[in-house]
Amino acid sequence: MARGELMKKLLASYGRDDEFRAIAEQIILEEEQKNNRVLARSLRQTLDHASNRAPPPRALAPLIPFPDAANDFVERVEPEHTKSDIVLSKANIRIFSGLIQEFRRADDIRRSGLPVRSKLLFCGPPGCGKTLCTQIFAGELGLPLFVVKIDRLISSYLGETATNVRKIFEFARKQPCVLFLDEFDALARSRDDTSEHNELRRVVNSLLIFIDRIKPKGFLVAATNLDQSLDPAVWRRFDEVIWFEKPDREMTEHFLALKFKNIKTAFDPTSHVGSLEGYSFAEIERICVQAIKAAVIERRKEVRELDFRHAVADEIRRRSGTARLQHLED
Ligand SMILES: Nc1ncnc2c1ncn2[C@@H]1O[C@H](COP(=O)(O)OP(=O)(O)OP(=O)(O)O)[C@@H](O)[C@H]1O
Ligand SMILES: [Mg+2]
Repeated sequence: MARGELMKKLLASYGRDDEFRAIAEQIILEEEQKNNRVLARSLRQTLDHASNRAPPPRALAPLIPFPDAANDFVERVEPEHTKSDIVLSKANIRIFSGLIQEFRRADDIRRSGLPVRSKLLFCGPPGCGKTLCTQIFAGELGLPLFVVKIDRLISSYLGETATNVRKIFEFARKQPCVLFLDEFDALARSRDDTSEHNELRRVVNSLLIFIDRIKPKGFLVAATNLDQSLDPAVWRRFDEVIWFEKPDREMTEHFLALKFKNIKTAFDPTSHVGSLEGYSFAEIERICVQAIKAAVIERRKEVRELDFRHAVADEIRRRSGTARLQHLED
C-alpha cells in the first residue's frame, strides 16, 4: 500500500490499540521489503517499547451530560494539583499505584474473571489529604472528578432525594469518572441517629444500597473523618479502606521541604520537625504560610527562624483555643 495511505490509516486508528499495531506492523514490513533494514529495526524497537508501557488513561471518553436535577449537589471539579504536591505514606503510595495499574489493566483483569477494585473509603483526621488526594488521583487516572455534597443531598428535598441519588449513580455507571462522596460522615451520622426522621433513614439506607450495587466505570470514593465509630455496614461496602494519618517525622520533613522549595530561608525549616509532632498537614501548611507572609509583609528577601517560631506559637495558641471551645461544647 502507498505510504501516504498507510499514514492516513495509522492516524485514523488513534485510540484503537489493536488496529494501530496492525498498521504499524504493515509499515515495518514494507520497509523490510524495500530493504530499509536499519529503519525497519528501529521502528520495530520503538513499537515494542511503546506497547510494553502501560496504556494511557482511558478517560478521554466524551463526557455524558450530568443530569440537571443533580446540579445542586454535584459539581465537576478540575484538579489543580499533581502528585508532586502531596506527601503520602509509603503504604499509601503502594496502594494508589496498585489501584492505578489495576484501572489501566481493568479489561485484562475482568477477562481473567477477577474483580477490579473501584469503591474506596478514605478515612482519617481533618487536614490530612483525603480531598486533595482524590483530586490528584482523578488527575492521574485522567478521569473527570464529580463531587457529591452528601449533607446537601440528604437534607434538601427529602421526597426527591432517592430519585436524585438514582440519577447520580446511573450517571457514574455509564461515565468513567471519579464520583466523590465528600463529608461521608454526614451519612454515617444520619444512620446512627435514632431520633432521625424515618424518611431520612430510608433515604440513607437506599444510598447505602446503591453504593453496594454500583459497579462504577471509574471509581467511587467516599471520605470521612470518623474512624472506628463508622458503622460496619458502611465499611463492608467498600473494596478498599485507605487511611490518611497525621504525618510522622519523615513525612513532616518532606512536607516542609516541599513548602519551602522556592522560598529563601535563613534557617533550615526541616530542623523544626520535632516541634510539629501531632499536627495535621493543613496545620503545618498554615504555619509555613504565616512564616512566609511575615517576610513578605516586612519586605524581607528571606524567611527567618523567628518568623517560623512565631507562626508555630500562633498555631499552638489557636489550637488551645479550639480545645477550650471543644471542651465547652462537650
Ligand atoms: N498529605 C498531604 N500532602 C500535602 N498537603 C496536604 C496533605 N494533606 C493535607 N494537605 C494540605 O492541607 C489542605 C487540606 O487538606 P484536605 O482538604 O485534603 O484534608 P481532608 O483530609 O480532606 O480534611 P477534612 O476531613 O477536613 O475534609 C490541602 O489542600 C493541602 O494544602
Ligand atoms: Mg476533605
